[in-house]
Amino acid sequence: MFKCKITKKKIPQIINFGKMPIANGFLNKKDFKKEFFYNMGVSFSKDVSLMQLNNHPKPEMMFNANYPFFTSSSKFMKNHFKNYANWAKRKYVKTDNTKIIEIGSNDGTFLKNFKKKNFQHLGFEPSKNVSEIAKKNGINSITKFFNRTNLITFDKFVNKTDLIFGANVVCHIPDLLEFILTCDLALNENGKIIFEEPYLGSMYKKVSYDQIYDEHIYMFSISSIKKIFNIFDFQLIDVFPQNTHGGSMRYVLGRKKTNVNKKINKWLEIEKKENIDNISGALEFKKNCELSKEKLQYKLNNIKKKGKLICGYGATSKSTTILNYCNIDSKIIDCIFDTTPNKIGKYSPGMHIPIIDYKYFSKRFYKYAFLFAWNHKKEIEEKEVSYLKKGGKWITHL
Ligand code: SAH
Ligand code: TMP
Repeated sequence: MFKCKITKKKIPQIINFGKMPIANGFLNKKDFKKEFFYNMGVSFSKDVSLMQLNNHPKPEMMFNANYPFFTSSSKFMKNHFKNYANWAKRKYVKTDNTKIIEIGSNDGTFLKNFKKKNFQHLGFEPSKNVSEIAKKNGINSITKFFNRTNLITFDKFVNKTDLIFGANVVCHIPDLLEFILTCDLALNENGKIIFEEPYLGSMYKKVSYDQIYDEHIYMFSISSIKKIFNIFDFQLIDVFPQNTHGGSMRYVLGRKKTNVNKKINKWLEIEKKENIDNISGALEFKKNCELSKEKLQYKLNNIKKKGKLICGYGATSKSTTILNYCNIDSKIIDCIFDTTPNKIGKYSPGMHIPIIDYKYFSKRFYKYAFLFAWNHKKEIEEKEVSYLKKGGKWITHL
């Protein structure tokens, strides 16, 4: 039994994915022996409809000066954040002097769109390397975690912030209650919290269990967000599905007095019908994960038996879950091609598959390429258009 991080009640473990390294812990050969591992299991709290990781490394082990993920590494995501900003300006910016905060602002890709006279902005970004890049681009990036202690020093933003934004970050915050209390402290009476995160319903549908890794402590649904924020002076007022990261949901929260969009009720009914708000969905998902693992191992072993070579494409944090859960090492996948300078030349966490500059992908032919960055499929297939023509085949676990 484990404790629900919100209600503190005991809840059962649903799936055990086994021993896992740090998902973004790409490493050099000399560091193989001292690599850190933890046991990755998930449980489900029926009270708040929440899927959570049971154990995870401390945030400081993941979000530090070596954080290897840069939002701007995807053209598609850059464009997505531009649209996200324009949408928010149209819908929620009412005053001339709008104060906004972004949490997990990374290299400043989103906040760049608010570097205008009529906005005052702050980005909380604990990972020093990405935060420094944002600063160089003129973003007021604070190299700290978003919590009350760190917020209070910016009195212009205490009780006066209009909008708090986030993307792919709220699910990274172990102490969600502290996160909500910090939002409460920052926001004015009409303030809104707007964030988007991978959606539990999409993960169930696709059996994309690779969304589960150390940084993703929670897999949210509309039901869970509604229930958790209801504990405080907030309520869910609107939702907008997104096609990013394999299926995400954008949530808008306001104070309890704010009008609620009626469409939320329809969504809640769907989540009930599809067992997204209760434990049956989680149990079904467990079975599907086990099946997916068997199928993938069978598929890869068959390719190897035929003497064909397999490479990976996109050394994503998600790939760490697939490789370690399914026990796929460099005897099966020779190498993984990637664009990220911090990953190139290193080895994948746990399974130690070499990471190679994507420039060599078109020069060395692999009959099969495992698309770990499946959520960037369109962008990558466009970039590597000659691969199929040469007879290459993209594969995934999905
Ligand atoms: N929002 C960006 C980055 C997502 S990666 C995007 O969607 O592309 C998650 C980011 O959140 C990392 O840069 C990490 O350093 C940061 N982060 C993690 N925990 C945080 C916290 N408690 N407060 C603020 N930022 C945090
Ligand atoms: P993500 O799934 O967490 O967004 O990580 C994407 C990874 O894929 C990151 O390491 C960069 C890599 N990548 C490529 O190698 N080529 C590409 O065209 C894109 C979009 C990403």
